[in-house]
Amino acid sequence: MTSEREAYVYIQLPGTLETVPAALLRVRTLPDGTHVGRFRYGDRYLARAEAVALDPFRLPLSSEIFEFTQLKGIPGAVRDCAPDAWGRRVIEHKLERGPADLHEIDYLLHGPQDGAGYLSFGLKAEPPAPKRSYNRTHQLHELIAAAQAIAEGRRVVAQVLERLEPGTSLGGARPKATLEDAHGLWLGKFPAKSDRCNLQRVEFATLELARRCGLNVTQARLQDLGDCDVLMLQRFDRECVEGGYLRFGLVSSLTVLDCEDSALNRERWSYPLLADGLRRWSDKAEADCAELFRRMVFNAAVTNNDDHPRNHALLRRQKGWRLSPAYDLVPTPALSLERRDLALVVGNYGRTASIYNLLSQAARFGLSVAAARQEIDQIVAVIRQWRERFFACGVCTKDIEYIAPAILPECFFCEKQPDI
Ligand SMILES: Nc1ncnc2c1ncn2[C@@H]1O[C@H](COP(=O)(O)OP(=O)(O)OP(=O)(O)O)[C@@H](O)[C@H]1O
Ligand SMILES: [Mg+2]
Repeated sequence: MTSEREAYVYIQLPGTLETVPAALLRVRTLPDGTHVGRFRYGDRYLARAEAVALDPFRLPLSSEIFEFTQLKGIPGAVRDCAPDAWGRRVIEHKLERGPADLHEIDYLLHGPQDGAGYLSFGLKAEPPAPKRSYNRTHQLHELIAAAQAIAEGRRVVAQVLERLEPGTSLGGARPKATLEDAHGLWLGKFPAKSDRCNLQRVEFATLELARRCGLNVTQARLQDLGDCDVLMLQRFDRECVEGGYLRFGLVSSLTVLDCEDSALNRERWSYPLLADGLRRWSDKAEADCAELFRRMVFNAAVTNNDDHPRNHALLRRQKGWRLSPAYDLVPTPALSLERRDLALVVGNYGRTASIYNLLSQAARFGLSVAAARQEIDQIVAVIRQWRERFFACGVCTKDIEYIAPAILPECFFCEKQPDI
């Protein structure tokens, strides 16, 4: 049986606190289980001087109907503002329904209004009045306990869920919530029961190491709760102004690469292709391509192999798209000694995280081989000090030893492809 669902797409206009209807999205599910999404901007939106295209290539400002079959019929630029594994779990918990009973549109409609970027969704043509309730940092213990209960499939009383829920629609798999303090909005990443180490502190130390390597990294701090830590990341898609928060557009590299999110369908998951994408999207393509190269080298050098396309994003601040600050950088220790793969293709030798592969497509990032090698040498020189840096960030000796096999493994330094 063919069925159809729809949602209005609202946008908070850039540089303002005003949210207006932008488009209508209809998704048809065909009898074979595939989906066709149809997206059309509203005429009133198109007539606005401040109207922006949600995706300048797949969704340019036009009264045309745009069709999508990837990502269950949801345009990438819309999907990027919806929750992922964690936020979906909270929605399923709230609705007391399993993923099999929920449509992609349900996840758009039931996410709280703190989603990534400047979009929100609803059933009516006019957007609902904005709710300005955010979790506050003094509730952290309660929020962590509620997140753990949800992760373990235990029911959370409605009152607590109501408090946790307003901040849970950002993407990613780990438990997290949007939190507000006197300085603005933060993404708080919580501990999970299955963690093998203090991941919040390790991620914090890795972000600080990346910053020392010269990468543009999300602003972070740790909130020490005595028995655990919360990693606080300043929301780069929000800015506190008088009367509220400005919201900035955000697309993941899935949208820039125009590809699916399943690792089974990863032909286009590639750093060189992403560099090509930056040349089309970015307002400062040359600088962003060089920054992307540094991020790829850093990920290879610390074995951050969870560098999938949702872990790279572009941000639309006041003017044009730019690579967002780097986030979600975590070394993965227990892997092969001979070879490590990243999630994205690195160069001519596939996903291999070794110097010969990192240098093989340097030109795609706008770098000569000599310039690329210099970038690698500079990054490696900083990472060699990682133990002192991690220690200074309060990572305990046990966790440093646990992480050690991930940092600068021998196979990273290979200058040529090993004989097979
Ligand atoms: N500082 C930030 N400001 C705004 N949005 C952010 C920020 N950091 C991350 N995000 C968004 O939130 C999402 C989830 O964050 P993050 O990747 O750190 O979580 P995660 O659960 O560890 O992810 P994964 O499932 O990849 O392990 C990101 O994909 C990105 O869209
Ligand atoms: Mg992530």
